[in-house]
Amino acid sequence: MPGAKITALGTYTPPGMLTNQDLERLVETTNDWIIDRTGISTRRIAAPDMATSDMAVLAAQAALAQNGTDPASLDAILVCTVTPDMNFPATACLVQHRIGAAGAWGFDLMAACSGFLYGLTTAAHLVMSGSHKKVLVIGADTMSRIIDYKDRSTCILFGDGAGAMLVEQCENGEPGFLGFHNEVDGSGGSYLMMPAGGSRMPASVATIEQRLHYVKQDGQQVFKYAVRKMHEACQKVLEKTGVSANDVTLMIPHQANRRIIEATAARIGIPLDRVIINIGKFGNTTGATIPLATGEALAEGRLKKGDLVLFSAVGAGFTVGANLWRWSY
Ligand code: UT7
Repeated sequence: MPGAKITALGTYTPPGMLTNQDLERLVETTNDWIIDRTGISTRRIAAPDMATSDMAVLAAQAALAQNGTDPASLDAILVCTVTPDMNFPATACLVQHRIGAAGAWGFDLMAACSGFLYGLTTAAHLVMSGSHKKVLVIGADTMSRIIDYKDRSTCILFGDGAGAMLVEQCENGEPGFLGFHNEVDGSGGSYLMMPAGGSRMPASVATIEQRLHYVKQDGQQVFKYAVRKMHEACQKVLEKTGVSANDVTLMIPHQANRRIIEATAARIGIPLDRVIINIGKFGNTTGATIPLATGEALAEGRLKKGDLVLFSAVGAGFTVGANLWRWSY
């Protein structure tokens, strides 16, 4: 069975900025409260004419350009998003066409904040099966389109962005993907959701008037679950792979709340100087947080070839994911 490795990464964040001071003017909140409770200072917001596929294409092109991969050589494209351009066709189809990936199939994968890790897990297995040589995983979300800027408990949290990683077959026993632990717990579905716009509650004047096309969250429930499950999933993937927390070079967690990340790192026993936290700049970009944080780690020289990287996430669903990779470039 061939191994799977990550060979390139590209990101895109729109230039538009939404600061805590901007939010102070929109809702009853303060810069101090937001920083203290979440760690977020600014978020990026896409221009009105930019949709998720536009950001996904820019991130994909940046990843492919990084190691000179011809888009026509891609075997599959997975777009992890909760904010597709439209319900169908899949955003993966729009991206496939725009980047000229003539030989690729693909699909959208919806697992909210765990989406990118489900995408990486799927890509690794497609490659390890031997049937795929190059799979592009994209996490992209335009959260600003589904956020209620009258709801102070959610509008402070989210931002827009995209990131892509190329997963390829290893050569001659090189290390790469080491293992995963993913879980779904649908009993938590009601704690974080967008109620309307699907087949249960199609768009109507009433759903719009009741603001049901926006994210609704019971923050405390999600917070408690996230702290417990991020830790458990990390612990399980370490056990499965026989690796100790001391051996992990870098933990790159989903960026939902600085306090969740710090609590998870403390429970696993990984000091914060081995954890990437960039939520302050981008907020929670849902499918894009992990590639954005990984891109930052690479740019700062904190992630190098041979490092052992632990990715983890919890998201709406509930969905839970952890992946362990040996970094390949
Ligand atoms: O990616 C997965 C998705 N999401 C998450 O992981 C998010 C998980 N949850 C959280 O990050 C946190 O629960 C929040 C940041 C959303 C909220 O923080 P909290 O410490 O759990 O606050 P809380 O909901 O317990 O609210 C405490 C107080 C309440 O006032 P009272 O009832 O004590 O008077 C809220 O009304 O803070 C109030 N509050 C705010 N105050 C100022 C809620 N939002 C704000 C706000 N500014 N933006």
